[in-house]
Amino acid sequence: MATPYRLLLLLLSTSNLFLQLSSSATTNKIGVNYGTIADNLPPPSTVASFLKTQTTIDRIKLFDANPDILRAFANTNISVTVTVANSDIPSLTKLPSAQSWITTNILPFHPETAFNRIAVGNEILATSDKNLIAHILPAMKALHQALTLSNLTHIQVVSPNSLGILSSSEPPSAGSFRRGYDRAIFAPILDFHRQTKSPFMVNPYPFFGFSPSKPETLNYALFKPNGGVFDKATGINYTNMFDAQMDAVYSAMKKLGYDDVELVVGETGWPSLGDPDQPGVSLENAVSYNGNLIKHVNSGKGTPLMPNKTFETYIFSLFNENLKPTISERNYGLFKPDLTPVYDVGVFIQQHQQATGPAAMNPASGPEAMRPASGPMAMDPASGPTAMGPAGSPESSSSKKWCVPKINASEKALQANIDYVCSNGIDCGPIKNGGPCFKPDSLRSHAAYAMNAYYQQSGRHNADCDFGNTGVITNTDPGYGTCKYPYAATGSGQNVKKPDTDGGGSLKSATSNLRLYGFLSHLQFLICLCLCFL
Ligand SMILES: *[C@@H]1O[C@H](CO)[C@@H](O)[C@H](O)[C@H]1NC(C)=O
Ligand SMILES: *[C@@H]1O[C@H](CO)[C@@H](O)[C@H](O)[C@H]1NC(C)=O
Ligand SMILES: *[C@@H]1O[C@H](CO)[C@@H](O)[C@H](O)[C@H]1NC(C)=O
Ligand SMILES: *[C@@H]1O[C@H](CO)[C@@H](O)[C@H](O)[C@H]1NC(C)=O
Ligand SMILES: *[C@@H]1O[C@H](CO)[C@@H](O)[C@H](O)[C@H]1NC(C)=O
Repeated sequence: MATPYRLLLLLLSTSNLFLQLSSSATTNKIGVNYGTIADNLPPPSTVASFLKTQTTIDRIKLFDANPDILRAFANTNISVTVTVANSDIPSLTKLPSAQSWITTNILPFHPETAFNRIAVGNEILATSDKNLIAHILPAMKALHQALTLSNLTHIQVVSPNSLGILSSSEPPSAGSFRRGYDRAIFAPILDFHRQTKSPFMVNPYPFFGFSPSKPETLNYALFKPNGGVFDKATGINYTNMFDAQMDAVYSAMKKLGYDDVELVVGETGWPSLGDPDQPGVSLENAVSYNGNLIKHVNSGKGTPLMPNKTFETYIFSLFNENLKPTISERNYGLFKPDLTPVYDVGVFIQQHQQATGPAAMNPASGPEAMRPASGPMAMDPASGPTAMGPAGSPESSSSKKWCVPKINASEKALQANIDYVCSNGIDCGPIKNGGPCFKPDSLRSHAAYAMNAYYQQSGRHNADCDFGNTGVITNTDPGYGTCKYPYAATGSGQNVKKPDTDGGGSLKSATSNLRLYGFLSHLQFLICLCLCFL
């Protein structure tokens, strides 16, 4: 028993040290993909001022060159990547047509709008369209030349790729480009990047890489504790799939002699909602992937084969887009169309969360200040565009307090909290099927409702939100749409039944049981972690 306990202390103190070091050395290189397949998004000017004034996001990537968006981002100093439509590629291989594209899409907005890149098409290799594929590099060269002639050499020309460009990616050292494309397509493109000092852009999606039949691969994809994947050729134990995917691309580049070309992550993300029973899709997993990804990228650690590299990374995506075909595709967004976060992965300039209660003990706040997501946007036409000012979320109020689950609360703990609260005199009708807070039908969302109801009813003491160290106090109203979270003003027990504190199984003693239970599972989790590192 003594050894794991000492290890536990060691682990706690080193991880704290690590968090302090990494947060002081933060170099933020996080951008978002601003997709617009939706009919309920706010006007581009609202989006521009929101990103500028409230978030640390300092770069966006568009899937087109929408002039309204380009105009809206003028004078924001937010870098913009525009995309040439796939179908335009064959016509852009000659200099005059490339110049004309620049004249139409860049010059009218330059220099007020800070262009940093032109993406030539999107994942063209995945289209298998030989005509498009044959014209990528000529179009990239022509656009680069046109930019040079306009003295705009700081604007880089790239072409984003899915990881379908690799024939093999496991283990990472075996990464290689698809045969037939390696020397014919990728070597010349990488040579262009080397000549023009521009990066190779890839779209790694661990979401598509885990295997539903092997639950441990999900933790590997989500940056959660896992057994690791050992690469015999290099002796490296990979602890997350993102690093493995990036290193597989690096290995493929190295085989062609281009390991000096920089890599940029054009897209990566995780949906927060999917079809019923779609494997791996949940709000909790989206928070874990994107939150950990941002921390990982900004830590400056790089990957095993690319140590100390901070990859510029564009999260997919900025908004939930309600006209996408499937539920999961509609739910990749960090924000809802009304600019409230689907969840907070730590991109706000001022944390919505006040340093009170349990959260104050956690210097590495990260994605703590999350809120439960609302249901699918398509079902919520009322939350259309809102022209909100630059001053904080309309729902937040620093004096009010709600209780929600911590980001790392386990599903077991969430369920235990729901069971406890709902069997102790709190009205859980709103999270039952048909109730206003039933959707999204997730454990986390239901637990948030229940935990808050208990916290409010018990008088909003910090201890009432402890739940065995699985609850956290927030200043942001977690309610959404018709789901109103109780906020019991002091002295008014309005439609909240007072618990029978004299009866058997009083709230207080049950809470301390719960606290003990939480502490034990916490201990268990850390010991497992230690054993993994042994
Ligand atoms: C614009 O952003 C760049 C980094 O992208 C920074 O160096 C520069 O100081 C910013 N300029 C203004 C006026 O904010
Ligand atoms: C580009 O810069 C050169 C040298 O500064 C200048 O002579 C030329 O006129 C510029 N061209 C354009 C299109 O601005
Ligand atoms: C890599 O991790 C696996 C599983 O945890 C372990 O069996 C193996 O010994 C590790 N190898 C190295 C070199 O750390
Ligand atoms: C990475 O950074 C660490 C710490 O600053 C340093 O010791 C190490 O030499 C660096 N590695 C490379 C390959 O630059
Ligand atoms: C969850 O995070 C908090 C910090 O906010 C930490 O104190 C606690 O130990 C974590 N719990 C688990 C189970 O990892």
